[in-house]
Amino acid sequence: MTATEQRADGDRARGPEPFAAPKGIPEYLPPASAGFVHVRDTLAAAAARAGYGHIELPIFEETGLYARGVGESTDVVAKEMYSFADRGERSVTLRPEGTAGVVRSVIEHNLDRQGLPVKLRYAGPFFRYERPQAGRYRQLQQVGVEAIGIDDPALDAEVIAIADEGFKALGLTGYRLEITSLGDAECRPQYRARLQEFLAGLDLDGPTRERAAINPLRVLDDKRPEVRAAMADAPLLMDHLSSGAAEHHAAVLEHLDDLGVAYTANPRMVRGLDYYTKTTFEFVHDGLGSQSGIGGGGRYDGLMATLGGPELTGVGFGIGVDRTLMACEAEGVQPWAVARADVFGVPLGDAAKRRLVVIAAALRSRGVRVDVSYGGRGLKGAMKSADRSGARYAIVLGDRDIAGGTAGLKDLVSGEQRDVGLDAVVDEVVAALGS
Ligand code: HAM
Repeated sequence: MTATEQRADGDRARGPEPFAAPKGIPEYLPPASAGFVHVRDTLAAAAARAGYGHIELPIFEETGLYARGVGESTDVVAKEMYSFADRGERSVTLRPEGTAGVVRSVIEHNLDRQGLPVKLRYAGPFFRYERPQAGRYRQLQQVGVEAIGIDDPALDAEVIAIADEGFKALGLTGYRLEITSLGDAECRPQYRARLQEFLAGLDLDGPTRERAAINPLRVLDDKRPEVRAAMADAPLLMDHLSSGAAEHHAAVLEHLDDLGVAYTANPRMVRGLDYYTKTTFEFVHDGLGSQSGIGGGGRYDGLMATLGGPELTGVGFGIGVDRTLMACEAEGVQPWAVARADVFGVPLGDAAKRRLVVIAAALRSRGVRVDVSYGGRGLKGAMKSADRSGARYAIVLGDRDIAGGTAGLKDLVSGEQRDVGLDAVVDEVVAALGS
């Protein structure tokens, strides 16, 4: 421990209690954060390749947007929103999901007038006051896409294929796509009445009955064995689709077949958000325990109108970056590099430091990642830092080397060190890294 570190340690012992991050929020610290960034960027890149432009959304919106857009009966709105009054006494909410915000923005800025579909992608944190556990966080990270304004089954398939391609690009194999149709404005109300009639004949407990009154479809998703048994003969929407919704669904599956995207039917799928119509899907990973949904989405043909916009359809997905990273860990795939530097500068003396910081700047301008040992530490401590940085090479420079016009270039993998001319060191390092 250096004198500075000792002092910091002593101060901490006497000082106030240190703060901790809020509960249920994962932090991604180096070197593991390299995985987080890689997963997020790989998923977003798959969307960019299909022409989805980046949208940077507000982190909070008017509370009413989510109440109306996501649905008052959903857990997300009823129990999980971070809502508060701002200093102007307006109720605002930290965004629990991205679709409502994207649709609000499309309406507000008339993006639909610039050609359809409007294709947007986003990435960032969302907030839900859930009970934290592995894979379920209060600040969760998503990469999402939305395609608004064209009701074409091929577009549903495109959205699904983008997610699939993102997972594949990460090297994941242990996931599956579950898909169903939640019908349209024609068949959904009739089905709802039919299901409510069926539920009325069951001996359900009070809370379940209440849930059924608000949204009977939720009971289909109940995990309790006794409810599952009672629901075994429940009517399924897939058997009561309107001809339009059935045709749409068949066409989506055909496109997925053409694209070689495998899927399984899950006619009991219920999503936690109320805006879905027709195509609805989830990507499930088996290596994650109970929080197995790594992404989900679907069509939301009524949402634009519900939020005061034109009668335009939409389809999209949200992929959980936290859970996708967990899936990579579960499968042992790690396609990202954890090294944060390619080269580490080790100056031994003040003159050497002045020279090395200039060499470092020159290397950075050539695109090389360079870190330098600061604080006048000795060779041993500096070499330890060099190893920790993950660098491939160290440039070791003593004051005496400067007089001789050379620097030591050490290969941190083989341990070999050779002298190179000081004036040529930048070119030598660039060449060595390129080979
Ligand atoms: P969602 O299913 O609520 O959909 O969330 C999408 C994904 O976010 C989930 O599949 C999961 O991977 C991740 N996720 C959700 N909650 C948590 C949590 N508490 N902790 C960790 N990960 C979580 C939506 O949000 C829709 N907006 C998706 C969409 C876009 N539908 C149409 N367009």
